Amino acid sequence: MDARPTVLLLNGPNLNLLGRRDPAQYGTTTLADIEKRLVELGGELGVEVVCAQSNHEGELVDRIHAARDLDGVVFNPGAYAHTSIALRDAIDAVPTPCVEVHISNVHAREPFRHVSMTAPVMSGCVSGCGVHGYELALRHVVWLIGQNG
Ligand code: DQA
Repeated sequence: MDARPTVLLLNGPNLNLLGRRDPAQYGTTTLADIEKRLVELGGELGVEVVCAQSNHEGELVDRIHAARDLDGVVFNPGAYAHTSIALRDAIDAVPTPCVEVHISNVHAREPFRHVSMTAPVMSGCVSGCGVHGYELALRHVVWLIGQNG
């Protein structure tokens, strides 16, 4: 049995297209590259990282509910960050610490991206650090697990 804490890396809509989608905004790193790097970093930090991506709001809600049994979540909700009260309520309903990631600096973009429905119920937010933001978020989640454990 694996006694290491488990962290879910969850990506929302359109993030499966990373590497091909608007490289000026999101870079050329693919989602597979990010997942590989976070699994590796998790190994260095003493946690198991499991990865999931969905383009569907309800499936993301289900994943957050299931994270009740996990130790932490790194979550890029994509555009649902700006629209989804359902995701906000799901995160709020689950005690597992969840850190929000946006690759781009959403505050420097269109006004509709300046508001995040999900951010107020997150344990932290990283925006505008490129794909490195996922590593920063994982490090923070691991730190939180240490504080709570
Ligand atoms: C994003 C920012 C969102 O506004 C956008 O809809 C995305 C990606 C980011 O990682 O920068 O899909 O979450």
